Amino acid sequence: MIEAHGGKLVYRVDESIDTKDMNVMKIDEDMAKEVENIAHGVFSPLEGFMNRNDFENVVENMRLEDDTPWTIPIVFDFDDGIKEGDEIILKSNNGTMALFEVEETYAYDRKRYAEKVFGTTDVNHPGVARVMEMKGKLAGGKITLIREGRDEFKKHYLKPKETRELFRSKGWKEVVAFQTRNVPHIGHEYVQKTALTFVDGLFINPIIGKKKKGDFRDEVILKAYEALIKNYYPENRVAMSTLRTMMRYAGPREAIFHAIMRKNFGCTHFIVGRDHAGVGNYYGPYDAHEIFREFPDLGIKPVFFRSFFYCKKCGGVVNEKICPHGKEEHIYFSGTAIRKMLVNKEIPPETMMRREVAEVIMKYENPFVD
Ligand code: ADX
Repeated sequence: MIEAHGGKLVYRVDESIDTKDMNVMKIDEDMAKEVENIAHGVFSPLEGFMNRNDFENVVENMRLEDDTPWTIPIVFDFDDGIKEGDEIILKSNNGTMALFEVEETYAYDRKRYAEKVFGTTDVNHPGVARVMEMKGKLAGGKITLIREGRDEFKKHYLKPKETRELFRSKGWKEVVAFQTRNVPHIGHEYVQKTALTFVDGLFINPIIGKKKKGDFRDEVILKAYEALIKNYYPENRVAMSTLRTMMRYAGPREAIFHAIMRKNFGCTHFIVGRDHAGVGNYYGPYDAHEIFREFPDLGIKPVFFRSFFYCKKCGGVVNEKICPHGKEEHIYFSGTAIRKMLVNKEIPPETMMRREVAEVIMKYENPFVD
């Protein structure tokens, strides 16, 4: 089984911690998800929120202080009520409870954070907008989870130690992970199946968490995938579970972060297609391929795909690398076009989306994030 990132799968859960007389700080549900990810080892080797040196190194050099690849800051922002040396209980409305041992508090520069991580300071970028709304200071230190929060999709969630056990029990040595924030169109299916052809198992790992307006709702994504898997995938070759974190839309940097988390889940390969984790026109369609060159020590193998589309002349789904025909023969799997059809209650053509998938989505009055 592939080693966790940084060599050790983190697991920091202790239900016996006595929280009596301890200061409590409220956190929102997004922060609660990060707390649980730290504790369950999804963010291994991180054992807590980043201290200043790790944060600065990640922003500037895309590595932790000890040189381990890491591209997205995992930080705790606050305005006041925390000082170095504090032991605080973090609590969210949905029931997450954790001990935060604060080692360091520090100032940071939001603009530089945005510029380096997202490549822009434009507040129209949803990731940048979120950074600009962050509180004034950061606190670093270890997290120990005392109680897990409620999760509407709990039956779909597996911790890294559980996915590793699952892959072992299925006898899968090589597992390719697929990141998604979308309902599946035919392009997604071909990317996944092409990759699966060369390994033992496919791990579909949709992001469940904060997304931008117009993206598909979490429940819709899960139900759509269930329909696709049931009707079109060999049962013994595929597993699905959720990744509970927010989309950052950081394109190339997020692709590396996505790969690291899947390595922690026990995957050996990671799919990176066209415009991975992109938004608008902030990133080139293959920037997320290029960045992997800077990380020969990542420890999980990227599997790159050029754009998949339907070619009328070939009479099937192909990709840029293998099709010799001109654009006039091609039908692209445009998310926007599919969304438009679904809004108008039109079933998209089978060259774009499986009928069973479209039917599931159309059962929802509003399948989109408001
Ligand atoms: S993402 O934000 O999670 O990247 P999405 O769920 O649409 O968005 O994509 C999931 C994965 O499929 C990404 O690796 C993406 O690059 C890839 N992908 C999506 N559409 C295509 C396509 N038409 N051709 C090749 N790869 C694609």
